[in-house]
Amino acid sequence: MGVGDDATGEALGRDRTTASGGKPLLFLTRRIPEPGPTLLRDSLTLRGGEEDRDLTPVELLEGVRGVAAVLCTLRERIDDAVLDAAGPSLRVVSNFAVGYDNIDVAAATARGVLVTNTPGVLTEATADLAWALILAAARRVPEGDRMVRSGAFHGWAPTMLLGVDVAGATLGIVGMGQIGRAVARRAVGFSMPVVYTRRSGPLEATETPAGAEWRYCSDLDSLLVQADIISVHVPLTEGTHHLLGARELALVRPGAVLVNTARGPVVHEEALVEALRGGPLGAAGLDVYEDEPAVHPGLAGLENVVLLPHLGSATHAARGRMAELAARNAIAALSGARVPHPVNLEALGSPDR
Ligand code: DGY
Repeated sequence: MGVGDDATGEALGRDRTTASGGKPLLFLTRRIPEPGPTLLRDSLTLRGGEEDRDLTPVELLEGVRGVAAVLCTLRERIDDAVLDAAGPSLRVVSNFAVGYDNIDVAAATARGVLVTNTPGVLTEATADLAWALILAAARRVPEGDRMVRSGAFHGWAPTMLLGVDVAGATLGIVGMGQIGRAVARRAVGFSMPVVYTRRSGPLEATETPAGAEWRYCSDLDSLLVQADIISVHVPLTEGTHHLLGARELALVRPGAVLVNTARGPVVHEEALVEALRGGPLGAAGLDVYEDEPAVHPGLAGLENVVLLPHLGSATHAARGRMAELAARNAIAALSGARVPHPVNLEALGSPDR
């Protein structure tokens, strides 16, 4: 494991939360972009954060021992065992992601540990990538690329690699939160009517862009039967696990395109493979997987699916903003300042705090 400023085991033997110079100790689980590390070093004592790889379970348990804060990514599962290993000094778990299904929030709350996340700063980048997948899947872009590279392109043909129209198609947004709305806004330029589901009900009329046709669906089924292109934007929770299973995928319009840039387990991957093989789905674009980074072997063998390695927020600017916000969340939580993006404010009222 890479070790940052808290390089000595000696430091761990003293007051573990304020390893040097009285600054609280933070464990950074892996390398993140600037300005994250600089901000963290200015206010805290940093442990870890030097290597760009997954930690082993033992390294994670070792790394969190005695710290006041953990800054983690979606690659680390923060559960009872990790929270116990950190011990009573732990005040905050700052997630370098908007989704926080990798953290057992109830377990953190019960220990008085604040959890924070990074919404907003990756909205546009993720919406752009959802559109990259929509266009790539609908217009068979990777298939065309493979054809050219392999020398199988022997000239234009009237029936070669025909896709489906995007402009004018009906876009279904499953989960009209910040990212869902950013995807829907881009559809205005494609003259696409939008149908959407939203946990908190229909948007206000003022929240719909001028000239756009956005229709609320009170249930997922009615969205699925209307949409030509479906884009998934719900967080992963117990309620959304396998939200799109065999029954739901059987409802979609023949030839429909499904895009998932949210979390893999929202879609039942086995059922997805079947729906892509035998219909009714025409194509899919995936950035996330049920058992990430493993990909269902059936998917890799299909031509009508575009597969990306979880790139939703992967722009220089978005990742820099995520690093900054994750650092600011942790620093604020430890200094008693207002925390920019808390997930479980109720943790602050916990008797364990
Ligand atoms: C998130 O923030 O939840 C993304 O999946 C990571 O980019």
